[in-house]
Amino acid sequence: MPAVVVVGTQWGDEGKGQVTDYLAKQADVVVRYQGGPNAGHTVVVDGEKFELHLVPSGILSGKTCVIGNGVVIDPEILVQEIERLKKSGLDVSCLKVSSRAHLIMPYHRLLDALQEESKGPRKIGTTLKGVGPAYMDKAARTGIRVQDLLEPEEFKEKLGMNLKDKNRIFQYFYGREPMNEEEIARTYLSLGEYLRPFVCDTAVLINDAINQGKRVLFEGAQGTLLDLDHGTYPYVTSSHPVAGGACIGAGIGPNKIDKVVGVVKAYTSRVGDGPFPTEIHDETSSWIREKGREYGTTTGRPRRIGWLDTVMVRYASILSGITGIAITGMGVLAGLSSVKVCVAYRHRGKEIREFPASLSVLNECEPVYRELAGWPELGDRGNVPESYDALHPNAKKYLEFVSEATGLPLVLVSTGRERKSTLEVRRVF
Ligand code: IMP
Repeated sequence: MPAVVVVGTQWGDEGKGQVTDYLAKQADVVVRYQGGPNAGHTVVVDGEKFELHLVPSGILSGKTCVIGNGVVIDPEILVQEIERLKKSGLDVSCLKVSSRAHLIMPYHRLLDALQEESKGPRKIGTTLKGVGPAYMDKAARTGIRVQDLLEPEEFKEKLGMNLKDKNRIFQYFYGREPMNEEEIARTYLSLGEYLRPFVCDTAVLINDAINQGKRVLFEGAQGTLLDLDHGTYPYVTSSHPVAGGACIGAGIGPNKIDKVVGVVKAYTSRVGDGPFPTEIHDETSSWIREKGREYGTTTGRPRRIGWLDTVMVRYASILSGITGIAITGMGVLAGLSSVKVCVAYRHRGKEIREFPASLSVLNECEPVYRELAGWPELGDRGNVPESYDALHPNAKKYLEFVSEATGLPLVLVSTGRERKSTLEVRRVF
C-alpha cells in the first residue's frame, strides 16, 4: 500500500504531527500538500522539541520531504526552519520544494492583519501569516511562485506589478505607508539563492516514487472543518485540508491514493472564531486546556475546548474517504471521572445526524451526548502504555465506542507527544 494521506477530522491541532511522525518512519517520502506557515506541528524526539510550520515532520526521520505546489511558502520562515534543523544536526538535503508553490510576500502578511482588523466582530481569527491573501493572489493569477525567485528579472517584474497595486491599497484605503520594493527584492532574492538547491518539480518526484512502489505519506495540515469548500465557511482557511487536496496540491491522480487516515483528537479544540457545537466553558475545559497544552503552536492563542463530536468526524469521513482513524489526546483526558461524546445534534426539537451547512443552524444545535466512564491512566507505564491491550479497560471502551460511532476502524492510538506513546492497532503501510 504505497500512498497514504493523513487528514485532520476536526478544526486542526488534532495531533497530526505525532501520527505523521510515527508513520513517516515507515514511509520513504513525506509530502505537505496545502496550507502554509499557519500550520504548526510539535514533535518531541528524545526530549528535544521541534516546532515545524512548513517542513514535513518526516525530516526528523531522515526521509525525503516534499513541500508540494499547493503549499504557500513564506521563504523567511522556511529558511529559519531549515537553519534550526541543521543546528540540531539533522540532514536537510532530503528536503524538496516545489518550483510551482506560491510565495507569501510581506504585503500578504500586512493585508492579512488589515483585513482582519476591518472585519471587526466578524473577523475570522486568522493566524496572521498572510496565508489567505497569498491564496487570493494565486486565484487572481497575480501570485509569485518559487520558480520566480530563481529568475531575478521575472521576480522583480512581478513584484513591481504587485506592489503597485498593493501600495495603492495600503496608502489610499488603509492610510498606511507604502512598502519598499527594493528592500523586498533584495531580501527575497537572497532567500531564493539559499533555497535554490532544494527546488525541483516535485510532482515528477512524487509520481516516480509511487510508480516505483515507494511508500509515500501525504501530511494534511489544518483540519476538515477548516476546508475552504467543506468547512464552517467563512471561518475556514484558504486551502483544502481534505484528502482530495493531496491530488491538486501534490500533483497526483486520485487513483494513486490507497488509504486515508483521519486523525481524531479524543476531545475537540478550535483556535479562531466560528461555531463550535460541543464547546464547553467550565472547570473541565480549563483543565483540559492546561493539561493538553492547548495553546496555538503558531500564534500562542488559547484554544477553545469541547467534547468529541462524532457528527463532525462522520462528515470528515465521507469528504475524504477515510479508511481508518488515529485517536490522539487520550492521555489528556486521563483522570476525569467521566467523558462525553456527541453522537447527534438536536435542532429545534429535531435530532439531526448530518453536519449542517448553515452556520445559524449549527449555532442553534445542541449536542446529544453519550457519557462514558473515565480512566485514571492509560496503562502500566502511566500514560505511555506498552500495547493496546495494556490500556485501561475504560480507555479501550472509549476507543471502541468512537470507532463504532464513526463506523471507522481504529488504526493508531497516540497518548502523548513522545514518539513512544503512539500505538499501532492495525498496519497502515
Ligand atoms: P488562516 O489559515 O491563517 O487564514 O486562518 C483561518 C482560520 O484557520 C483561523 O480560524 C485559524 O485559527 C485557523 N487555522 C489555520 N491554521 C490552523 C492550524 O494549523 N490549526 C488550527 N487552526 C488553524
